[in-house]
Amino acid sequence: MPCYVRLMGKEDIAQVTEIDREAFPTQWPPANYQRELENRLAHYIVACDAGKTVEEPRVEVASRRGLSGLVSRVRQLFNHEPFFGKEPPPSRRRYILGFAGFWVMADEAHLTNIAVWESHRRQGIGELMLISIIDMAAELKASIITLEVRASNTSARSLYGKYGFTQVGLRRGYYISDREDGVLMSTENISSASFQAHLQHLKQAHARKWGTALRQIAR
Ligand SMILES: CC(C)(COP(=O)(O)OP(=O)(O)OC[C@H]1O[C@@H](n2cnc3c(N)ncnc32)[C@H](O)[C@@H]1OP(=O)(O)O)[C@@H](O)C(=O)NCCC(=O)NCCS
Repeated sequence: MPCYVRLMGKEDIAQVTEIDREAFPTQWPPANYQRELENRLAHYIVACDAGKTVEEPRVEVASRRGLSGLVSRVRQLFNHEPFFGKEPPPSRRRYILGFAGFWVMADEAHLTNIAVWESHRRQGIGELMLISIIDMAAELKASIITLEVRASNTSARSLYGKYGFTQVGLRRGYYISDREDGVLMSTENISSASFQAHLQHLKQAHARKWGTALRQIAR
């Protein structure tokens, strides 16, 4: 399935929130993506199915038509421009397969979320998004990437481990819903020669396996 990554825009919030609810059912209240997109420290991406679209509710379409030509052209330039290929017209949006986000504070990028529809897992999409996030964090001059993950989340821990994250701490009872421990993980310096060499190797292996052309994310 052809898939590409681009920055998340406001029009993606409905789809992203559905994925979030499925992936993190115990998280309450759910993340407020409207606020996250307005947060200058936060950066969010979505992975889209290049061959599938979804219809948007009529009311949204009507309000978009009300935008002036200039505003909608600017929005297209800065928010909706995909990696490659063309986004469909605003009434039909690409089907979002997954999303991920991080905050940058000083020289540290902190991964806040990464999730893929359960029906589309194990197809290299989580990995594609993690690669994109590492590249973005490096471009934004972060030195390390940190995250917290549930101790029992073996799939996510395996993904992070593959990309060089190691455990640097344990937060006992960190998750309020069930008091599960949170494992704190971090990379080494992401600009170091050893990290970059490992990343290049993984990117090539991913492209060979899934045939996905990785490009820089358009901003
Ligand atoms: C974690 C998650 C994003 C991975 O996405 P994905 O698209 O299924 O992952 P990929 O297909 O790209 O797999 C990449 C790597 O992740 C690891 N992985 C993914 N699923 C796994 C599983 N079920 N068991 C073991 N390892 C797994 C493997 O290391 C895999 O590499 P490999 O193919 O060489 O074995 C996905 O499982 C998810 O959305 N989980 C729910 C949300 C969540 O827990 N997010 C993390 C919050 S900290």
